[in-house]
Amino acid sequence: MAKSPLAGLKIGVIGSGNMGRALVRGLVEKSVYPQNISVFDVDKKKALETKKEVHVKIASSSRQCASLSDVVILAVKPPVLPQVAEEIATALTQDPLVISIAAGVPMAKIEACFKKPVPLVRAMPNLPALVGAGMSAFSLGRHALPKHRKIAEAVLQALGQAVQVPEKWLDLVTAVSGSGPAYYFLLTEKMIEAAYEMGMKVDVAKKLVYQTALGSGKVMAEYGEDPEELMARVASKGGTTEAALKVFQKQGFGKIVQDAVKAAYKRAQEISRGK
Ligand SMILES: NC(=O)c1ccc[n+]([C@@H]2O[C@H](COP(=O)([O-])OP(=O)(O)OC[C@H]3O[C@@H](n4cnc5c(N)ncnc54)[C@H](OP(=O)(O)O)[C@@H]3O)[C@@H](O)[C@H]2O)c1
Repeated sequence: MAKSPLAGLKIGVIGSGNMGRALVRGLVEKSVYPQNISVFDVDKKKALETKKEVHVKIASSSRQCASLSDVVILAVKPPVLPQVAEEIATALTQDPLVISIAAGVPMAKIEACFKKPVPLVRAMPNLPALVGAGMSAFSLGRHALPKHRKIAEAVLQALGQAVQVPEKWLDLVTAVSGSGPAYYFLLTEKMIEAAYEMGMKVDVAKKLVYQTALGSGKVMAEYGEDPEELMARVASKGGTTEAALKVFQKQGFGKIVQDAVKAAYKRAQEISRGK
């Protein structure tokens, strides 16, 4: 078996909220020794909860967390990211790889906080990372080498799947896969509401719709066919699915989805420009 790019590396995770915890959990599941992971969070309770779950080390400050690590993951909210980057800047003595998962903080802004060349990767994961089914896109900074790319990919694969893209695509990634889970949740909500209005109990409708979403996702992932082909597998001429799809089409569902994704993209671009 090939050696993991993460073998023997010390990994520091700053911010132990939803994403930080999911990363730590995923890394341990991917056979990173918990003793090789240190976590820091300003909210000590959150760091302790992570320690309780996966027995990682707790650092006493972001600087200590960074100075102990070959890979430093910044999993704090975007507004505090520059402050954390500046805090750890002088603690990065061994040229570690820094991975930021903060939405909408451009690489140039993060690099400027370090005031020296730092191998940096900017990544955009999504919520299904919580269950190891995330989709992350990542871009390499100016000082990141091929070895850093391999490490970043392996880190992000602890959350699910990962794909490298040019940084100029990351706002679009945010609009598609970053915000994307909420679009599926909206469709789910409306299907449950429709079933309820036609007389079904909510808990039964919820079970039907959730499992249908899960199963449809698995079919897409495993068959890899175009959505049109998959729809044809469900819809038969003059049947129920065709009747529903005609309503979607007639009422402009495609245009609504396109407009919604465009709105998310526009907002992601504004956030990246600091608006
Ligand atoms: N959630 C998502 O679906 C998602 C998707 C893609 C990307 N992201 C990105 O992932 C990052 C983390 O998101 P999240 O949902 O995990 O946020 P979160 O649950 O709020 O976790 C962030 C943690 O960082 C802590 N923190 C704040 N300031 C800190 C500091 N100076 N040093 C160390 N820790 C500090 C926070 O503590 P307090 O709560 O006490 O402030 C909190 O526990 C964000 O940048 C977000 O843009 C999230």
